[in-house]
Amino acid sequence: MDINNRTVLIVGGTSGIGLGLARRFADAGSTVIVGGRTTGQVDGFESVVIDVTDADSVTSARDEVLAAHPELDVLVTMAGVMLVEDLRDPAHFAQTQQTIDVNLLGTIRVIDAFTPQLMSRGAADVITVTSGIAFLPFPLMASYAASKAGVHAYTEALRAQLAGTGIDVTELVPPAVATAGQEKVNPAALPLEGFLDEVIALLSTDPTPHEVLVNGVLMHRWAEREGTYAELVERRSQSLSSLPGR
Ligand SMILES: NC(=O)c1ccc[n+]([C@@H]2O[C@H](COP(=O)([O-])OP(=O)(O)OC[C@H]3O[C@@H](n4cnc5c(N)ncnc54)[C@H](OP(=O)(O)O)[C@@H]3O)[C@@H](O)[C@H]2O)c1
Repeated sequence: MDINNRTVLIVGGTSGIGLGLARRFADAGSTVIVGGRTTGQVDGFESVVIDVTDADSVTSARDEVLAAHPELDVLVTMAGVMLVEDLRDPAHFAQTQQTIDVNLLGTIRVIDAFTPQLMSRGAADVITVTSGIAFLPFPLMASYAASKAGVHAYTEALRAQLAGTGIDVTELVPPAVATAGQEKVNPAALPLEGFLDEVIALLSTDPTPHEVLVNGVLMHRWAEREGTYAELVERRSQSLSSLPGR
């Protein structure tokens, strides 16, 4: 994928991995617009207010971005929430709804809003964002795992359906990265800049891999194939002791 001289919208680009990726695309010469619910803190980038759980917000953000940038040719669906849940307490369902609405339905809403314009360009990229947890559950974040496994499956179908339209579909699969509070709770979380170095190297290869897998996520992605799945899920289940009353 060419990362120079593109016009890129990163929905979920107001902080963390999305903002870091925005800087990398901008450093490579691309024009970048970042989107999120709160855009006030974003310095140095054009921004658009968008709430991916609200269809009207998605449509009006799309209209605003395309009016200013009809040449838009890269869409990144980075918006996501990572919520802890206690499945022994049915009240967790509020977290389930929010997680599925932002991570899975939000991804689909945003892609749907932009697909006609991207198809009309004849050459464009859509980058979805899943997680190592899509492939190896982290039991503390049950709906998160379900949402990201859903985005993975959807991405596979999207790629097949858009074949021949000129839109290439790539899935970014981060392992734990030191953003969004991960740096405080997970000593194994990758430093953001090192993670982005690997991501940019993989995105820049030709042809771009269908899945952008940095080294740190290979153990999650291929656990089932390597026969380590059960042992790793058991190890990751130890985190459940952090729930109240366990
Ligand atoms: N950090 C990790 O360890 C890790 C690992 C694997 C996958 N990921 C995935 O990577 C992506 C970025 O995560 P991050 O660590 O960079 O987290 P982050 O710093 O919390 O960033 C999340 C982004 O999503 C946006 N967002 C959240 N809810 C939204 C909504 N309803 N509408 C529009 N935008 C919304 C936020 O913007 P506003 O708050 O301005 O709305 C922010 O820009 C997520 O999809 C996450 O699941 C992260």
